[in-house]
Amino acid sequence: MLTIFILSSKLTMKLLSKGAKMKIQTGNPVRGKDYFKRENLIKKAWDLIDSGNHILIAAPRRVGKTSLMYYLKDNSKDGYIFLYLDTESINNENEFFRRIVNKVLKTDFVKNSQKILTFLETHKPTKKKLGPDGVEFGVSEDFNYFEMLSKILKSSSSEIKKLIIMLDEFPETLENIIEDEGKNAGKHFLQSNRELRHDTELSEKVQFVYTGSIGLENIVSKIDAIKTINDLSRLKVPPLKTEEAKKIIELLLKNVDFDLSEYLINYILKKIEWLIPFYIQLIIQEIKYTYQDENLDKIKKTTVEHAFDQMLEQRHHFEHWHTRIRASLKSTEYNFTKELLNITSENDTISSNEIRNLSVKYHLENIYKDLVGALVYDGYINNNENNQIYRYNSPILRMWWRQNVAN
Ligand SMILES: Nc1ncnc2c1ncn2[C@@H]1O[C@H](COP(=O)(O)OP(=O)(O)O)[C@@H](O)[C@H]1O
Ligand SMILES: [Mg+2]
Repeated sequence: MLTIFILSSKLTMKLLSKGAKMKIQTGNPVRGKDYFKRENLIKKAWDLIDSGNHILIAAPRRVGKTSLMYYLKDNSKDGYIFLYLDTESINNENEFFRRIVNKVLKTDFVKNSQKILTFLETHKPTKKKLGPDGVEFGVSEDFNYFEMLSKILKSSSSEIKKLIIMLDEFPETLENIIEDEGKNAGKHFLQSNRELRHDTELSEKVQFVYTGSIGLENIVSKIDAIKTINDLSRLKVPPLKTEEAKKIIELLLKNVDFDLSEYLINYILKKIEWLIPFYIQLIIQEIKYTYQDENLDKIKKTTVEHAFDQMLEQRHHFEHWHTRIRASLKSTEYNFTKELLNITSENDTISSNEIRNLSVKYHLENIYKDLVGALVYDGYINNNENNQIYRYNSPILRMWWRQNVAN
């Protein structure tokens, strides 16, 4: 018997395109099919790695740093081994290097090296933890792990692949160390890292990639140690170009039951303005929820507007922009910064003059430029269009701030 399937062309398309689906993901780093391949960015990263640089990936929170590092690791090239470590919770130097040692011991970088095995025989952990992945040093082991890391890395045979050590949330670690043990400990930590990078024996074998959502430069300059990081090559993670943003939307739409007209896509992108993948994911998700909850058969402009309102209700996605400055600034500095952001959220812009006047009000004439610099660096505001005028990077954040902090 002949059965005839009548499929609408849209449904057929959706069925045919099964497989290469990109799922909506809002928050966690994305991986595999869910990672939108940012060709330019990936190329820049490889150019820096291939020419032997140590790298600082600089970009605000949620811009896609961790996802990029995963991508590089998951799609490595011949001749490289990647190691990824999130260092956010670490608060002392020895612990930092212990965690790296444990990671290094699990990579192919050391697995087949007789020299390293011999070295470990004399420096083996007393409380031996021998899992499927090999040796591990536990928290109570008392070694100088900086020395140990250096020795282990040097012991690997030279023809082996190059090891790329990626350290995520590095500035957080530095901040933790300064908070718990003081400025000098922070400086020491930075110097140890620099020493590893500058060891000629090591530089043929190892490269470091640091990243973090808070400006490393800001913290480092506060403890007067900028020289300890001036050898790092910066890799910026810019927002997407309009064409890339459209491509992500197209890919995300393959996995939902509705379509968006060209007009609505342009409308959405104009409203988001600061085209980071995260905001695009968030809005498509909210449109999807609205579409489902209200049983719609079509997305209209009002649906999109409703979705934007809903998106701003998701406090946990935005709150860190406020808590971050609350936690990291002293009271007058915090008050100055908050007022600056409040005014900008109300008026859309703030001029350099207004900012200077505000600094006088808070008696911060001497340091206010650093505070403004930190806001720019950490992705709150910019003066790209006009040197004298600052505005929010993102109208979304601006709206959120106006509703939740300023009022
Ligand atoms: N290349 C990408 N493709 C798709 N989504 C992305 C991409 N990069 C970032 N995202 C979105 O941004 C969110 C945060 O990404 P993440 O890598 O964790 O950023 P960061 O480490 O800078 O905070 C992800 O949950 C996802 O929604
Ligand atoms: Mg991250």
